[in-house]
Amino acid sequence: MKILVVGSGGREHALAWKLAQSKKIQMVYVAPGNGGTALDPCLVNINITDPSALADFVEKEHIALTVVGPETPLALGIVNIFNSRSLKIFGPTKEAAQLESSKDFAKSFMQHHAIPTAKYQTFSDPRAAHAYIDQQGAPIVIKADGLAAGKGVVVAMNLDDAHGAVDMMLSDNKLGNAGARVVIEEFLLGEEASFIVMVDGKNILPLATSQDHKRLKDHDEGPNTGGMGAYSPAPIVTPALHARVMREIIVPTVQGMAKDGIPFTGFLYAGLMIDPQGNPKTLEFNCRMGDPETQPIMARLKSDLVTVMEHAVNGTLDAVELEWDRRTALGVVLAAANYPDTPQKGDAITGIPPETSECVTFHAGTTLENGKLSTSGGRVLCVVGLGDSVKMAQRQAYDNVDKIHFAGAQLRRDIGWRAIKLH
Ligand code: AMP
Ligand code: GLY
Repeated sequence: MKILVVGSGGREHALAWKLAQSKKIQMVYVAPGNGGTALDPCLVNINITDPSALADFVEKEHIALTVVGPETPLALGIVNIFNSRSLKIFGPTKEAAQLESSKDFAKSFMQHHAIPTAKYQTFSDPRAAHAYIDQQGAPIVIKADGLAAGKGVVVAMNLDDAHGAVDMMLSDNKLGNAGARVVIEEFLLGEEASFIVMVDGKNILPLATSQDHKRLKDHDEGPNTGGMGAYSPAPIVTPALHARVMREIIVPTVQGMAKDGIPFTGFLYAGLMIDPQGNPKTLEFNCRMGDPETQPIMARLKSDLVTVMEHAVNGTLDAVELEWDRRTALGVVLAAANYPDTPQKGDAITGIPPETSECVTFHAGTTLENGKLSTSGGRVLCVVGLGDSVKMAQRQAYDNVDKIHFAGAQLRRDIGWRAIKLH
């Protein structure tokens, strides 16, 4: 069987790596892929990104199913195009992807279906937005309605920053159309966790829990990033909390979307804030897997992902039971110099250790030219260590991280600290 993975990040490398382990697989294509997928003898990069051209390729090559990694092609309607040509694809339609592509859509959906989330209002008039901020006070959170590549959320700890964020989005149009409307919401205190499930329109299959580290620097300092590291499982999500999140957030979301006439198919990722009393609220929805959460999650998945995907596109996820490695997997991201603002590119990468049963390195912003690997984007690599405890997984990951070199590499030294503190 042939499968196509759409995307070029660490998440897509991890998905393709796991799919290629299946005995059913003849070929896994990655579009457009990266230096790591180019190096892997089981994977083939194809340099196509346009959704219609990808559908042409899938028809020509008789590819059995397509898995979409990032949100942009989903928001552009790649699933609608594939569906109209009867090609099997796992991901939400453009309409269902609004859960991620429009914060206003997600918030009004949650309000309508009584799904716990921060109190909010949506504005396009800057004067009304400023007045609301003055009335609510700080801290307060300003979010661009549309997709803004991680730059659309300002957690304002004081009124000046809050007003500044409104000016930046609504008056100065710094985020273009994505910032033409803003959601202003209540600041929530607590610990975050990533809750990711697979949905086939009706049935829900939860994946292993995970936790991301969004800030660039140790001790959760510095600017927000796409994610500097993640581990799975996340001990904060106890079995009782897991059941509650399913009951109060995930099931009402999947049922609500079906009831509203826009059934959801694909990975559904709820970003949770768990307050000090243990109550979960939804910070955001993503309509895809997380990056870097996918890397440790795939490192722990023992079941055949191709079989799971076949069930997912055929609407039979209720027949699947996933098997997980009992160990903790912990992924450390190595990012380029000047990430996240203006990541430096073109630096030679050396020393990536070979894969073992305790460590695997996934590529993101890398390219392979004339047999030489170099940096080509913000997040460059994610080194995943596995171990019987979070500490052991952490040691595996950092021992291997220390073998890798490229100029100006940035990384956090404390990935997993919250889980280690719990024990
Ligand atoms: P989002 O893209 O909505 O998940 O926001 C990005 C990050 O901003 C989240 O991972 C949180 O760290 C933070 N954040 C978002 N919404 C809130 C909120 N209501 N209260 C506190 N922090 C938030
Ligand atoms: N790691 C956060 C995300 O994928 O949105």
